[in-house]
Amino acid sequence: MFKKRLKLDTECLKGFVSKEDLSRILPEVEKARAVLIEDNARDREYLGWVDLPEKMNENCLKKIEETGRRISSENGAVIVLGIGGSYLGARAVIETLAPKTVNKNVFFAGYNLSGDFLNRLLSEVKDRKISVIVISKSGTTTEPAIAFRVIKNFLKKKYSPKELSRRIVCVTDEKKGALKRIADKEHYESFVIPDDVGGRFSVLTAVGLLPIASAGIDIRELISGARAERKYGLKAGAKGDISCIYAAIRNLLYRAGKRIEILSSFDNSLHYFDEWWKQLFGESEGKNGRSIFPASCDFSTDLHSMGQLIQQGERNIFETFLVSNKNPGECVIPSDKDNFDNLNYLSGKSVNYVNLKAYEATRTAHFEGAVPNITIFFGGKSAFCLGQLFYFFEKAAAISGYLAGVNPFDQPGVESYKQKMFKLLGRP
Ligand code: PA5
Repeated sequence: MFKKRLKLDTECLKGFVSKEDLSRILPEVEKARAVLIEDNARDREYLGWVDLPEKMNENCLKKIEETGRRISSENGAVIVLGIGGSYLGARAVIETLAPKTVNKNVFFAGYNLSGDFLNRLLSEVKDRKISVIVISKSGTTTEPAIAFRVIKNFLKKKYSPKELSRRIVCVTDEKKGALKRIADKEHYESFVIPDDVGGRFSVLTAVGLLPIASAGIDIRELISGARAERKYGLKAGAKGDISCIYAAIRNLLYRAGKRIEILSSFDNSLHYFDEWWKQLFGESEGKNGRSIFPASCDFSTDLHSMGQLIQQGERNIFETFLVSNKNPGECVIPSDKDNFDNLNYLSGKSVNYVNLKAYEATRTAHFEGAVPNITIFFGGKSAFCLGQLFYFFEKAAAISGYLAGVNPFDQPGVESYKQKMFKLLGRP
């Protein structure tokens, strides 16, 4: 059940995207897809993620698993430092499969500039055994660098220099960057981020795998899900590959004036998966004066805050529902003698059943409110299925970028705030 293939439901596109529209755009999609699989593709230097699930190095995997086990079993708290593509993938998996109520050992920091946040974190973990995973491809990003400095200073008071260097693991570039220099000088254990894999496409490298392994999640299952999705796509060709179809639909809806895409899940534990997705599409597509704004909603929670706008606000939205075929945590609604709340008609039914009906009702209501929508069904909340979803969306983001005529792998706009901030801070 958990290994089912992803399914794309396009029922609620009627009147917005037709079969003919899809056929017309297919040659463009074919061309974009070919760039990803041709050996001599112009963007090969950014395309390391395409074959990553197939080319996983066994020694590297073993080393990741061993280190993940070492730092988690010996310690009460693993603090993962990173921002953007250097943290969202790991957080997506850990929050989905081992939410805080289950996994109290992995903490994330270095993704903001809040002193209050850092102080609170350190006071929460101060009496525990602490390890740190520092992740930065460039090795120079301000947020994780500052957090690392603060946390290392704190740990220096707790551990001897030898013990401290055992408790710090770096994930960074093979040759360059400040983090690489620090790791070499201090003899920290290090993992390499391949040159040809960009930040937001790096969840299946040590960037994502090491924190995920340290949370006790099976990284091989994650990779095998991505591998299955990759294989299926290669076999299916553009016409049969739902990742390509999803990219085509997004592009057609954009051309029809839909400027906002909401990824809506009916499971709050997918919140950080949605955050990962937002970065992937936002940073890959939003350039050259065009973009689909990627937003996300946690339903049914947000139906009571954003539902009104989606149903009746400006008609520039389309929606992608992310729905699991199987949900854990059976919780049955009991019968009540008085029935003052009139809920006895649901007694014996599960909360998940009501959630499913909420999804079915929402997709229809939004469709009738002129919000075209599609649904991606996945097998269940497992590492395998998350691997499938990562690969599915990475491919769709790359193809979407090509269809939009932009380079999906750079992010020149991010530099702008950094330069201004450095100037204000008086950086030499
Ligand atoms: O996708 C990207 O490239 C970015 O989001 C980066 O991951 C993010 O800016 C962090 O960069 P770095 O890993 O160099 O610290």
